[in-house]
Amino acid sequence: MEGERFLNHRTPEELEKWKNTGKTEGSEDSMKELETEFNSFEQEVGLLDTVGPKAREIIGQDCNMVSACVSRPYPLVVDRAKGSVVRDIDGKEYIDFVAGIAVMNAGYSNPEVQAAISAQLEKMVHCGYGDFFAEPPLKLAKKLRDLSGYSKVFYCNSGAESIEAAMKLSLWKTKRQNFISFYNAFHGRTLGALSLTCSKVRHKEHFPTIRTVHTDYAYCYRCPLNLDYPSCGIECAKQIENLVFRRELSPEDTAAVFVEPIQGEGGYIVPPVEFHKEVRRICTDNDVLLVADEVQTGCFRTGPFLAMENFEVRADITCLAKALGSGLPIGAMLADNELMDWPPGVHSNTFGGNLLSSAAALASLEFLEKENTENHVREMGAHIRHRLRELQENFPCIGDVRGLGLMTGVEIVKPDKSIDPVRRDKIIREAFKDGVLLLPCGDSVIRFSPPLVMTDEEADLGLDKFEKALKKAVR
Ligand SMILES: Cc1ncc(COP(=O)(O)O)c(C=O)c1O
Repeated sequence: MEGERFLNHRTPEELEKWKNTGKTEGSEDSMKELETEFNSFEQEVGLLDTVGPKAREIIGQDCNMVSACVSRPYPLVVDRAKGSVVRDIDGKEYIDFVAGIAVMNAGYSNPEVQAAISAQLEKMVHCGYGDFFAEPPLKLAKKLRDLSGYSKVFYCNSGAESIEAAMKLSLWKTKRQNFISFYNAFHGRTLGALSLTCSKVRHKEHFPTIRTVHTDYAYCYRCPLNLDYPSCGIECAKQIENLVFRRELSPEDTAAVFVEPIQGEGGYIVPPVEFHKEVRRICTDNDVLLVADEVQTGCFRTGPFLAMENFEVRADITCLAKALGSGLPIGAMLADNELMDWPPGVHSNTFGGNLLSSAAALASLEFLEKENTENHVREMGAHIRHRLRELQENFPCIGDVRGLGLMTGVEIVKPDKSIDPVRRDKIIREAFKDGVLLLPCGDSVIRFSPPLVMTDEEADLGLDKFEKALKKAVR
């Protein structure tokens, strides 16, 4: 689970309210822990009153048994889901703008994916693909080659693992030791990937790093250099050459630049096309590898299979995960043969190329390919942003609406344009109460990343409810 949660944004008044609130219902253990997240939910906004008894029971137990390092924005206890609608354990339905954190691109309970999983389940689930051969991962490799143009794939189990693989491949290939990535970047939480991540200090404090120099991303709504696009000349990207390579880290010592086509956890930040083109040019001119982290943006999320296609940029290595397996864990690192020529034994794992995950991934990609997803994603994304921009006219707290395809961020601001995470979280909670699932990202952003199969009616109903949530949150 990534991103910061509303519990981290307690106002002094809210804290005071919690302290003064009397005992609440819940399991016996949770009653003792006044400051557990379970009680915080209930006391802060009465959110637990809005879910049913089964959900309350499960949350009470979960909070006592599962590590508190994962935090949840609201008390959703899922039971089942179909398409873009999630039903909770007590039978309440929600329109889903989360998609399991940009995972369920082909929709929940997609019949074609389910059929492929069932067929593979009958035959064999796992073989230890790191040691043996099998057909499903090979078929998937061909599909990935056809969709992406990269000739080779390395399989793993998650986004962070695919980033780790790309870090290792670029270290191995260049024999250099250091990386460059961007402020607000999120590349995962394992120690290698965490070195690249630079989104929130809580992710990083007390953990050691592999040396990574961070530099400015093109966050035009809040330009880190106080410039305006396009007169800025994409100075942020140019800093890699003008600043980093001159003052801090020689290109001779730089194994790779890691970049997200659109920053995800950092706030759904969409850079101008020239940003990625300039980063690509700098990497080429300085003989440094470029790695695209498409863990969140890949698999048709922004329209084309890879989001970098929107920017007409091709990275040397591309990382995929999240939506690839349609809900089953799988990650993939893609590169061309000349780059991925490391010898046997340098890198491997137990579950990479898992048969069930590979079958699910292939069926999901085939489904998305034949359903004319690219056009649907572009049209629905444009529609969602159009409606959100209409809302922006009546709600000054909406500072910015931005996105590509079905990846849209709404930045919530105070009248002076400063961030407003408290109001952002209120909006998300009000939407939840009314049956809409949304997640925060960045400092003050609400993200919309629905299943790519969401219908117009579902999107409009969800947006109507979002408008109601805005009204309640600005009162
Ligand atoms: C862009 C990006 N890279 C990497 C990751 C890490 O993926 P995982 O959580 O599967 O390790 C994420 C997760 O949100 C992500 O958004």
